[in-house]
Amino acid sequence: MPANAASEIATATPTDSAEGTDSDPVPTVEVRPRGVHGGARSAAILVTGATGEVGHGLITALHSAGCNGIVALDVRKIDAPLRSLCMETYVGDICDNALLGRLLAMYEITEIYHLAALLSTRAEFTPETAHAVNVGGTINLLQLAAEQARSHGHRVKFIFPSSIAAHGLPDLDTKATAGRVSEDAYCKPTTMYGCNKLYCENLGRYYARHYRQLAQDQTSGAVDFRCLRYPGLISADTLPAGGTSDYAPEMIHAAASGKPYACFVRGETRIPFMTMPEAIDATLRLAAADETGLSRCVYNVSSFSASAGAIAEIVRGFFPGAQITFEPDEKRQAIVDTWPADVDDTAARNDWGHTPKYTLEQAFEEYLVPTIRARYA
Ligand SMILES: NC(=O)c1ccc[n+]([C@@H]2O[C@H](COP(=O)([O-])OP(=O)(O)OC[C@H]3O[C@@H](n4cnc5c(N)ncnc54)[C@H](O)[C@@H]3O)[C@@H](O)[C@H]2O)c1
Repeated sequence: MPANAASEIATATPTDSAEGTDSDPVPTVEVRPRGVHGGARSAAILVTGATGEVGHGLITALHSAGCNGIVALDVRKIDAPLRSLCMETYVGDICDNALLGRLLAMYEITEIYHLAALLSTRAEFTPETAHAVNVGGTINLLQLAAEQARSHGHRVKFIFPSSIAAHGLPDLDTKATAGRVSEDAYCKPTTMYGCNKLYCENLGRYYARHYRQLAQDQTSGAVDFRCLRYPGLISADTLPAGGTSDYAPEMIHAAASGKPYACFVRGETRIPFMTMPEAIDATLRLAAADETGLSRCVYNVSSFSASAGAIAEIVRGFFPGAQITFEPDEKRQAIVDTWPADVDDTAARNDWGHTPKYTLEQAFEEYLVPTIRARYA
């Protein structure tokens, strides 16, 4: 075992268990490598769901930060520009244990950014498949992380994006009066996607703090699980792919490309949002944070809360020809109505310096409009 590996794990400081946090003490368990550690395997950072909206931004940012050991995995083909930023890419399924076994054998994985998922709309049409991918795939990767830690003796960082869909407010009156909802409030999701995310948050905490707690060779503490609950994300570079919060980016991209857009929620519908660069920044900040400062496993993050009507208004301001109508889809509306109008991200700000960059207006002026105009020019 490398000299520092045991101490890295053994000295993991129990985080505080103050009221309102979700932190059970991190066990101080030593993880012993089982296999040969002769440097034959390449050190790697694994990114699943690499081809997705977040994957594109994250891999680009990791590469710009000097990371040249990225191993990317997605069921869809990974495009050439993205491939050029990676050490290796794989087209494959996170439910394929044989593939994950090969990755385990080939790489010394130090960090996993587990982005692959079926998003909320698709998950609601195929809930059992969503469960298999979102939960089954996540437990496969958590297990891979635990195995990796056992094999090379270092804790493996596991960064997991959850969602505001993990919340479920019971009715519109509650949504209107709940204020900025904390991580632990209203965790009764009404969608398969939300249930999957909430459960995976708990699975992550289990692997980090209690994994095989009764076993002789207990190995909890091997996975350093860190999770952000993203709000709706808005990217200027990529088109959204089936999230129930995607009416905002869809509206903007439609206006910029001269297409009409029928918004599937009512104008007064409000949820929190952040731009894609802010989401990537938050993800990397949490990944880099000193563990001793983390009071929770799961953090809300957000930049601004806005109604669909306010977004339409600002879109019309920048794209005067925009044809936006509101044609609420009763069923999708009902889902968005269970999501908080705003979230409390104080813990993320205090613990690891989450710093949103934009207000709604700034997001349009400084990021969305210039980038999207260039894209559709
Ligand atoms: N985009 C948002 O607004 C948003 C909001 C909250 C949380 N999130 C979370 O962030 C993560 C990334 O989201 P995104 O917007 O990039 O989504 P996306 O749909 O653009 O990307 C997800 C990627 O996962 C891949 N994938 C799906 N099933 C797979 C499987 N079985 N094996 C391997 N790859 C598979 C898809 O091909 C896709 O490229 C997801 O976990 C999502 O739940 C996103």
